[in-house]
Amino acid sequence: MSHTHQTLGEFIIENQAAFAYSSGELSKLINSIRLAAKVVNHEVNKAGLVDILGNAGNKNESGENQQKLDVYANDMFINTLSNRNIVCGIASEEEESFISINSQDENHQNKYVVLIDPLDGSSNIDVNVSVGTIFSVYRRVTPIGTPVTIEDFLQPGKNQVAAGYVVYGTSTMLVYTTGAGVNGFTLNPAIGTFYLSHPNMSYPKNGRIYSVNEGNYIHFPQGVKKYIKYCQQEEGDRPYTSRYIGSMVSDFHRNMLKGGIFMYPKSSKAEEGKLRLLYECNPMAFLAEQANGKASDGFNRILDIRPRELHQRVPFFCGSKNMVDKLEEFMQEEQASNY
Ligand code: AHG
Ligand code: MN
Ligand code: MN
Repeated sequence: MSHTHQTLGEFIIENQAAFAYSSGELSKLINSIRLAAKVVNHEVNKAGLVDILGNAGNKNESGENQQKLDVYANDMFINTLSNRNIVCGIASEEEESFISINSQDENHQNKYVVLIDPLDGSSNIDVNVSVGTIFSVYRRVTPIGTPVTIEDFLQPGKNQVAAGYVVYGTSTMLVYTTGAGVNGFTLNPAIGTFYLSHPNMSYPKNGRIYSVNEGNYIHFPQGVKKYIKYCQQEEGDRPYTSRYIGSMVSDFHRNMLKGGIFMYPKSSKAEEGKLRLLYECNPMAFLAEQANGKASDGFNRILDIRPRELHQRVPFFCGSKNMVDKLEEFMQEEQASNY
């Protein structure tokens, strides 16, 4: 990558001015995520060497016990964000409850809470397939200076002020939005710098890729089954191509670049679906909408859902606008015929 490209650090500084009343807090937050992402990237890259360099139970350089990568990533993101006194609360897919950051400073003014899926697609680690990190940022709703409460985390996705992901793929990329479009940065591992490689990312309106775990087909709702059959039909630009990595971040990333739909429906095995509304679906839905795509639970906009609990699951359909529209048509037809 050419050194004339803008770096993520430069991009953050330049765009801070665009926020009215910006205190630089959000910039600091993105900077910490950038830092944690580099550290986790370094660790993920060594995953295949674990058996050679020493597995669980062994001490690493700093004398700590080596951990599973999802625990490592969880600790890394939480430590990076809390030590810098940047946020007032964190919730993670890996933690049962949210964490309140008690700043030593009595009049701490931090107003943001962060929600993270520290390692998405973690089962893919063992087989050298791309994984990711997902993050989501809200402004707290309780008074600044007091400990955060569950209310600060149970906000509808449309309240997000920022969201993004890191994909640890053939290249490592950080992709994020602060509500003014989506930008992607690629890491040059030789010097540890992210460069703006994908400005203004946008889903093609139509796509030809569908991504779903078809092994669960038998358990899917009728509307989803019919949509899958529609994708496979010989007509016009169909049949579509099927691509499923099993790391949502990677499936989403490819579909955003090429055009496609990602689906994780509810099934008779998982009545609510599998993916988590707060850590996975809301941030991806915000990114999708910012990139001219669409995200739905099959009937309604994901970002409008009022969360009931931290680890709530939801059916998830996300991607090129026309494809998600079509899926919703099939879902509605099916619902109507059930009356
Ligand atoms: P996580 O590793 O954070 O638990 O998430 C895995 C998720 C998601 O990334 C992926 O799309 C989905 O699980 C795959 O599920 P199936 O194996 O059921 O298809
Ligand atoms: Mn996940
Ligand atoms: Mn995870």
